[in-house]
Amino acid sequence: MEPIITCDNLVKIYRIADLEVMALQGLDLKIYPQEVMAIIGASGSGKSTLLNILGGLDEPTAGSAVVAGWNLGRLTRSQRLVYMREIVGFVWQNVARNLVPYLTAEENVLVPMILNGKTDRAWARELLEAVGLGHRIHHRPLEMSGGEQQRVAIAIALANRPKVLLADEPTGALDTRSSRQVLEVFHHVSRAYGVTVVIVTHDRNMAYAVDRFIEIRDGKTSVETVRRRPLSEGEHIEKDEESHDEYVVLDSAGRLQIPPEYREALGIGNRLRVEVEDGKIVLKVPEAGQSQEDSPEEAGEQQDGQGFAG
Ligand SMILES: Nc1ncnc2c1ncn2[C@@H]1O[C@H](COP(=O)(O)OP(=O)(O)OP(=O)(O)O)[C@@H](O)[C@H]1O
Ligand SMILES: [Mg+2]
Repeated sequence: MEPIITCDNLVKIYRIADLEVMALQGLDLKIYPQEVMAIIGASGSGKSTLLNILGGLDEPTAGSAVVAGWNLGRLTRSQRLVYMREIVGFVWQNVARNLVPYLTAEENVLVPMILNGKTDRAWARELLEAVGLGHRIHHRPLEMSGGEQQRVAIAIALANRPKVLLADEPTGALDTRSSRQVLEVFHHVSRAYGVTVVIVTHDRNMAYAVDRFIEIRDGKTSVETVRRRPLSEGEHIEKDEESHDEYVVLDSAGRLQIPPEYREALGIGNRLRVEVEDGKIVLKVPEAGQSQEDSPEEAGEQQDGQGFAG
């Protein structure tokens, strides 16, 4: 299957005054049609930066990001508007940012359609049914719970039948039960309307509730975790021992990241021996004496001996 989202060596540098922040450092990523997947990572790892680029809100500094055939590094202003209106839908963590407070749920879903010149009240109602709010169409945001408001936000994001739904910490402000409902709605609308869902979160429990999640570390993808068997409609979404497989990802040049906890546990420096044994690739920590640069003690002695002052 062809990916619907491809990032290739994606770089994003922010400049403030004469300070540069490299938020994405050559990130590679493929996402397939109708996946419900998550991007996880610590604060500052580049999750929102990535999502803003995929949503057309921000431009890559280098590398490429292609979504549904749209090359996001090469859009004109008017193409960008069409892209944001028709190809992607956004759900934000801040519940209030998603909804207009003085409009009903139904009117809120109509807004993006009106802006796009295609008002369809029946479709708005269908979407509210799909997110489980058929009985709330005349309620205003203040008359709904946070979880209900986020489900309206999903209906709003789907109003113009986008191919991709992007959600930045959509359950960040919700309790566990409402979070789970919101996740189930993402699964449901993906199946019902064939939309691809990308959810950013720093919550591992949330990540285990999707088919696949990718961890970003320092602006690059590092580990990928895949559910062995996709969830079926209405299935309970819990993690257990057997439910997921974890992979370390290679970048486009075949480079491998060894997770820091393994490097620390085995005392790995800056090189490893790579050998193929019985069809397996074996990474070996060089024995003492095999490599000078590797040994922290020796490096330390050199520094101590020579010093940097002179
Ligand atoms: N508009 C901006 N201008 C300057 N620097 C920025 C901007 N946006 C993000 N950054 C920096 O880029 C890096 C990545 O930020 P980003 O917001 O993508 O992280 P994040 O993974 O979403 O974090 P969080 O979990 O806290 O939301 C951080 O070092 C951040 O300070
Ligand atoms: Mg963020």
